Amino acid sequence: MRTTLTDLLGCRYPIIQTGMGWISDARLTAATSAAGGFGILAASTMTPEETARSIAEIKERTDAPFGVNFLVAQPGAREIVDLIISEGVRVASFSRGPTEELFREFKEAGVLVIPSIGAPRHAVKVAAWGADAVIAQGTEAGGHTGAIASSLLIPGVIDAVDLPVVAAGGFYDGRGLAAALAWGAAGIAMGTRFLLVTESPAPDRVKQFYFDSAITATTVTTAVDGLPNRVLVNKMVQQLETGGRLRRTLSAIRGALKLRKSLGVPMIEYLRSGLALKRNEKLSWSQALLTAHAAEVYKAGVLDGDLEGGVFSGGQVTGLIDDLPSCAELIERIVDEARTTLAGLHRYEDAAGGGPGTGADGA
Ligand SMILES: Cc1cc2nc3c(=O)[nH]c(=O)nc-3n(C[C@H](O)[C@H](O)[C@H](O)COP(=O)(O)O)c2cc1C
Repeated sequence: MRTTLTDLLGCRYPIIQTGMGWISDARLTAATSAAGGFGILAASTMTPEETARSIAEIKERTDAPFGVNFLVAQPGAREIVDLIISEGVRVASFSRGPTEELFREFKEAGVLVIPSIGAPRHAVKVAAWGADAVIAQGTEAGGHTGAIASSLLIPGVIDAVDLPVVAAGGFYDGRGLAAALAWGAAGIAMGTRFLLVTESPAPDRVKQFYFDSAITATTVTTAVDGLPNRVLVNKMVQQLETGGRLRRTLSAIRGALKLRKSLGVPMIEYLRSGLALKRNEKLSWSQALLTAHAAEVYKAGVLDGDLEGGVFSGGQVTGLIDDLPSCAELIERIVDEARTTLAGLHRYEDAAGGGPGTGADGA
């Protein structure tokens, strides 16, 4: 299934598995790319050493190209940028706080730059900086998300920029891929659907929690890290939402200190990255702290499986997913269904009398 996206990325199918913190590890990324999709490693929750090990592991598992997602202001971001370049990673992906200099650096090194954006004006900005494609992510999406629904964002971005646009937010099957192609997108990117495959590192009880969640089970909250974030509603989210500012800040400080320790980052570097976060993303100190704290509560959720005390990023599509295929089964199924859906659409040409050799009388 060839599109401008498959040509750009060098993969067989126009299906991206996005970088999900704690979830998109070497195994999942390699499994997606080996199955003909395009896997993106989430370095956003890794140290540079872990990122290096994960890149090596992906290369051991598959020769297929892959990408790396990171947070521009995370501790160790500089080393991660260097690794992406020196390891010849095909794509750099990020959603928050990019700079024009960073685009230039990647492009000069031959790394494709594919940011995620949530509004047409952001697409215009990154296009001017030289983005090679954009992931247009609608509000349905799991994790940090904007306010515009996929059904409006995707055509809006396609009209706004002359770049391959990858549709994201709420996709999970072949009908969605066909719809995205019909809008003029070059492919789809999925997070939540790839959390629920056999190669995903989420424990079984976490996967079951997602399966058991209805389409209305998510909420967009700013209480976790100060930025709008689509998560499954659970005890932790309810507490954070109702807990008040002081409680949130105290818990953020505790979480930030814990994270610093687990990352083994010296305090001075940690503060430096907090400052960068503050500046790049125009956050207050308490928001920057909340961001650091968030990484801990996300880990407690999706990776450690603390159903009450963790936070679970998840898209509305959670309510439509109830099976656990392998990456390869999922990708083949989506491609087959998209082909069938697209072929089936020809019947409307006939019905309208517009198809070749089909007059209004059906002749
Ligand atoms: C568990 C989880 C963790 C995520 N972590 C990140 C992240 O670290 N960086 C990022 O850019 N996006 C992150 N996202 C957003 C996804 O990469 C993706 O854009 C989104 O899931 C697409 O929408 P969908 O969930 O409807 O498929 C995360 C999403 C989920 C569900």
